Amino acid sequence: MAVKGRPWRPALKPDVLVNGELAPAVMAVLEQNYTLHKLFEADGEDAFLRSIGDRVRAIATSNFFGVDAGLMDHCPNLELISSIGVGTDSIDLNAARDRKVQVCNTPDVLNDDVANLAIALLLAVTRNLVAYDRYVRDGRWVRDGDPPLARGIAGKQIGVVGMGRIGQAIAAKLQVFGCEVAYYARHQRAEVPYRYYSGLKDLARDSAALVVIVPGGRETQGLINRPVLDALGPKGILINVARGSVVEEPALVAALQEGRLGGAGLDVFVDEPNVPEALFAMDNVVLQPHQGSATVETRRAMGDLMLANLEAHFAGRKLLSPLF
Ligand code: 8YV
Repeated sequence: MAVKGRPWRPALKPDVLVNGELAPAVMAVLEQNYTLHKLFEADGEDAFLRSIGDRVRAIATSNFFGVDAGLMDHCPNLELISSIGVGTDSIDLNAARDRKVQVCNTPDVLNDDVANLAIALLLAVTRNLVAYDRYVRDGRWVRDGDPPLARGIAGKQIGVVGMGRIGQAIAAKLQVFGCEVAYYARHQRAEVPYRYYSGLKDLARDSAALVVIVPGGRETQGLINRPVLDALGPKGILINVARGSVVEEPALVAALQEGRLGGAGLDVFVDEPNVPEALFAMDNVVLQPHQGSATVETRRAMGDLMLANLEAHFAGRKLLSPLF
């Protein structure tokens, strides 16, 4: 954590590699406490890594940059990867395990903001917030009168796909809006009171909307496919605050184009920052630039946790949020 009282200052500054520019406040602490090697400022990455690679004991990164096996190979004395973000799909975890490199992410501190964005997207799509804002600005309210009625969410079943920490935060918030919460996950979770579906298509068929919040990666790739979208149906809404890879994007675009799906609220895409252009013209779709955790408060907390894990490692203390 941001150290209270006397700041931690190692006597010998351990060598840390940072492979992409992180927030200024994070970079400042890294510069202060470590012998910092900035891969993103190197002229030639390979030559740079050959010259400093065997001194590197930790990599500071984020889920945006990730760490592959090749980078780990350049750092044979690597002990720790400390990453900003709860998602670790951009880190080769098997390669890290094989090399006995520990990995830390930043769970929990982002639960509220990612869950809030999921709810905001659900409300924005069901109440046509973006389209109706345009309706007012374009003078159509004056010209054409009131727009068509929107749809409410109270009393409706909303299916949460994934019941991890953020999924549980979303479920709790949905209850405040009067929704019936049901969920799909690989296993039923004894600790949550919501109705469990072992079949994703069944959940989609019975729900007014699906909110997707499973980890990315091979196991969830294309989980939301055409059969699931068709089960959700022409009034159904898809909210994705997980990873673009979880949804078969061409199937989603086709379902929206053909009116087989009611609408979508999307914060994540397969090829960010590129978004299928077909979505731009759709009034029933709300698009966001992968900003689920992107508030000043949460990003600061994520940066602090990444730094606290690094500090704990080099101070010989227990890691705060190790994956392994
Ligand atoms: C996202 C994330 O903002 O921590 C991560 O790995 O990608 C989050 O911060 C969120 O999941 C997408 O809405």
